[in-house]
Amino acid sequence: MNKKVVFSGVQPSGSLTLGNYIGALRNFGELQNEYDCYYCVVDMHAITVPQIAKDLRKRTLDVLALYIACGLDPEKSTLFVQSHVPAHAELSWVLNTVTYMGQLNRMTQFKEKSRKSDENLNAGLFTYPVLMAADILLYQTDFVPVGEDQKQHLELARDLAERFNNKYSETFKVPEPLIKEFGARIMSLQNPLSKMSKSDSDENAYILILDDKDSIRRKIKRAVTDSEGVVAYSDEQPGLKNLINIYSVLSSEDVETIVKRYESEGYGKFKEDLAEVVIAGLAPIQATYANLINSKDYLEKIYKEGADKAEYHAMKTLRKVYKKVGFIPRR
Ligand code: TYM
Repeated sequence: MNKKVVFSGVQPSGSLTLGNYIGALRNFGELQNEYDCYYCVVDMHAITVPQIAKDLRKRTLDVLALYIACGLDPEKSTLFVQSHVPAHAELSWVLNTVTYMGQLNRMTQFKEKSRKSDENLNAGLFTYPVLMAADILLYQTDFVPVGEDQKQHLELARDLAERFNNKYSETFKVPEPLIKEFGARIMSLQNPLSKMSKSDSDENAYILILDDKDSIRRKIKRAVTDSEGVVAYSDEQPGLKNLINIYSVLSSEDVETIVKRYESEGYGKFKEDLAEVVIAGLAPIQATYANLINSKDYLEKIYKEGADKAEYHAMKTLRKVYKKVGFIPRR
């Protein structure tokens, strides 16, 4: 029997954060034994915000190396770069024609990004979720592991699959999101009511997967908490709650055990220990990354083989789509 398909993507638009790791990358590896997994570095999504070409090239390889460092095995999972498989852009165009402007106008991420931007908005930012739907639907994906912030985009992908299927007959599998109950939304260390994001202007707001020990200690020490002074897990103490979530995911200890250990200790000791938990959690990833990033030939081999394999499967779907909409085949 054919294995079910998993697809996910990460943008190379900045250095990856602990939020990317806990919400997404950390969960990718455990799926690769049971499913046919595709993990893509979505460079075409990244150019919807200004990029410096040289940096984008570097960060694309960084994300690929981090995929492997976080436990993805290129023998088991297909690792590739989005722009290497033109079918993503091609399907995206067709899907644009079944997408309503009103739907895209309602996308929270677009609304937030357009609020923050003082320049003229580019159309790519608006149709971004359609390209994301194309990524997913091309592989007849069953499951998409993502953080909470991508839920709305996933709903759009499901909606477009269903609309296309209704209009042209059954073509796409309708994908399901895989969002962990715990850790799917890691918050900013400086404002626990907003998401930890690599585009935050305050570098104390996030921890990077590749941050050194001292930066991790410093950022956690400065993390915003509250004046209650007691370690407890509650919505009234969102900063602390976020830190406890991070502790829990990375140490695999449950929240009650952690709260019990620190309830009579105060925040200082808790934060000190949390920093060590984060450092220990990231150390093996950092070590593997450091080895890999200098092995350019190896990385090149991985992304070339990955693109060949991805393209083979993507083209099967794209050919079906082109036929259904009425394009004449070239050969
Ligand atoms: P991106 O690159 O912003 O983030 C990559 C993954 O990290 C998750 N994430 C978080 N999880 C928990 N807490 C956080 N603070 C946090 N910040 C980020 C995201 O949910 C995501 O899973 N549009 C996508 C990339 C994409 C994609 C796809 C994903 C393009 N095509 C197809 C899945 C399937 C994005 O911008 O993710």
